[in-house]
Amino acid sequence: MKKIVVLTGAGISAESGICTFRDSDGLWEQYRVEDVATPEGYEKDKAMVLDFYNQRRRQLETVHPNEGHRQLVRLEEKYDVRIVTQNVDNLHEQAGSSNVLHLHGELTKARSERNSNLIVDIGYNDIHLGDKAPDGAQLRPHIVWFGEAVPNIEPAAQLCEECDYFVVIGTSMNVYPAAGLIHYVPRESPCWLVDPKAVPISRNIKIYQEKAGTGVKKVVDELMELA
Ligand code: APR
Repeated sequence: MKKIVVLTGAGISAESGICTFRDSDGLWEQYRVEDVATPEGYEKDKAMVLDFYNQRRRQLETVHPNEGHRQLVRLEEKYDVRIVTQNVDNLHEQAGSSNVLHLHGELTKARSERNSNLIVDIGYNDIHLGDKAPDGAQLRPHIVWFGEAVPNIEPAAQLCEECDYFVVIGTSMNVYPAAGLIHYVPRESPCWLVDPKAVPISRNIKIYQEKAGTGVKKVVDELMELA
């Protein structure tokens, strides 16, 4: 089977009701990154940061995948599909995608402050000060904050090096190393991009300048024809 890598960002979850980061109504319009998405911010006010993610986790329990997520599942009928997502929601999994690699962590997981490999499933439950990991350390969100390591970038780059087709959906390509993954894709592998805005991409790529809810189906229809 030919291999497809799909790189997704906040835009694919926008029509499910989860706001993006850098759009006009985005999360970084309401909160300062340094307060809620850095280790320094967490050390400064753990309760506030835990609550920030508790709010996002509670919202996640109320939202559902949209047509963009669902269309990607169709590809699995004919391709080896790997979703590489910057999103911390579980909407790809809820839609039925089988292989989802999270670059920036997962809202439904928590981990030991002391050991980043000690990860526990918490579903949609809150994390509070005093909640302990199995090693006795405070539990923190299993989220990659700015300045922290992105352990899944190596396996993600490997997948990109081996892919026959590459699709980018709903990301401003602002944040590295995720945005650099496109440079691992072989020159001869065709690429597509779905985004209502123009996204600066330095390679030949077929663009559907529209929302994921309609654009992803168009890319999937093309790929199903190519299989
Ligand atoms: N369908 C498709 N794309 C959309 C939609 C939609 N309905 N609505 C918005 N978009 C696009 C925007 O045009 C933008 O290009 O989604 C992109 C969202 O960009 P960002 O808000 O920057 O989100 P993302 O690229 O995922 O951010 C990357 O930054 O803050 C960190 O860790 C965070 O994973 C995140 C990373």
